[in-house]
Amino acid sequence: MTDKTEQDRVLIFDTTLRDGEQSPGATMTHDEKLEIAAMLDEMGVDIIEAGFPIASEGDFEAVRDIAKQSKNSVICGLARAQLPDIDRAWEAVQHAPRPRIHTFIGTSPLHRDITKLTQDEMVERIEATVTHARNLCDNVQWSPMDATRTEHDYLCRVVETAIKCGATTINIPDTVGYTAPRESADLIAMLLERVPGADEIIFATHCHNDLGMATANALAAVEAGARQIECTINGLGERAGNTALEEVVMALKVRNDIMPFTTGIDTTRIMGISRKVAAVSGFAVQYNKAIVGKNAFAHESGIHQDGVLKNAETFEIMRPEDIGLTATNLVMGKHSGRAALRAKLKDLGFDLGDNQLKDVFVRFKALADRKKEIYDDDLIALMRDSTADE
Ligand code: KIV
Ligand code: ZN
Repeated sequence: MTDKTEQDRVLIFDTTLRDGEQSPGATMTHDEKLEIAAMLDEMGVDIIEAGFPIASEGDFEAVRDIAKQSKNSVICGLARAQLPDIDRAWEAVQHAPRPRIHTFIGTSPLHRDITKLTQDEMVERIEATVTHARNLCDNVQWSPMDATRTEHDYLCRVVETAIKCGATTINIPDTVGYTAPRESADLIAMLLERVPGADEIIFATHCHNDLGMATANALAAVEAGARQIECTINGLGERAGNTALEEVVMALKVRNDIMPFTTGIDTTRIMGISRKVAAVSGFAVQYNKAIVGKNAFAHESGIHQDGVLKNAETFEIMRPEDIGLTATNLVMGKHSGRAALRAKLKDLGFDLGDNQLKDVFVRFKALADRKKEIYDDDLIALMRDSTADE
């Protein structure tokens, strides 16, 4: 990294099609994957992890076809620390104008127990596999899975090995969503300080959301020097999911005053891709989900509606248009006030004077006590009744 602009740029690595799809029940078809990949490419995602080519014939074909159709994004395929996995990943991604191989191995004591490799044997495996990947492709990402539960001395040793063997990005996964923001930052700072060659590569952060801290942990890692965030649309992913792309991107945009980093994402495309991923994965977005939830820009209480009508900034820290929504949603219900009712009726074509509004407001409140949410049709019917009464 050289000049300031480069240092401030955070790469967005989307793994909706790999880690996101690993979420039980989120399987997507070949065509759906291609469509999502095209949308990610268009919105400015820097790297798309398109799948795990050795996992199945279908995964291989999806990664290969995404690689072929890609325009700007780097296309990445995942591979375990095994030569046949790496060869298969390369076979699929080599068709992309900008291919990447991502290879990983679990480095924590728990994972070393499973693979039955000693520390030295694992280092040898990393040397063999990263070197092999680098001989195939000049863009190689390496991940020590469960990094946040790996002994620091050993983590430094394996990261140094991967860098020496040619890895260009080192990803630090919080595989089980165990870390917390300060620890996430300290880990990146520790690696940057202790590992020879660390300033030559990009550190990535890959957080899971088991304790609801994935976004905070990813941003903390960036503040400490990571320059790639791994994330998924709507936070889709195994168990409680991954860092949500829309959250980190909008956090960096809205709080650029305290986190002065930029991304290449066209944020106005966020809502469209969020809806697409929800539809094809079958994972509905929770109503109060940050940024893309149905209620994220909806206001029902009278005080909030009145404030938003006078100046949206009173209760909105970002503009709905910034994420691709057309307008703030004033939800009409028993907490709504007169100003919101007047504005809503005006939108529906009824421009009321003060006295008429007073009368309609009484009827509206009576209706709202009986009905949870008042739809446009209810208001039109209300207006029809009051005109008939006159
Ligand atoms: O969570 C994780 O550790 C992963 C790796 C494969 C990077 O998804
Ligand atoms: Zn993961």
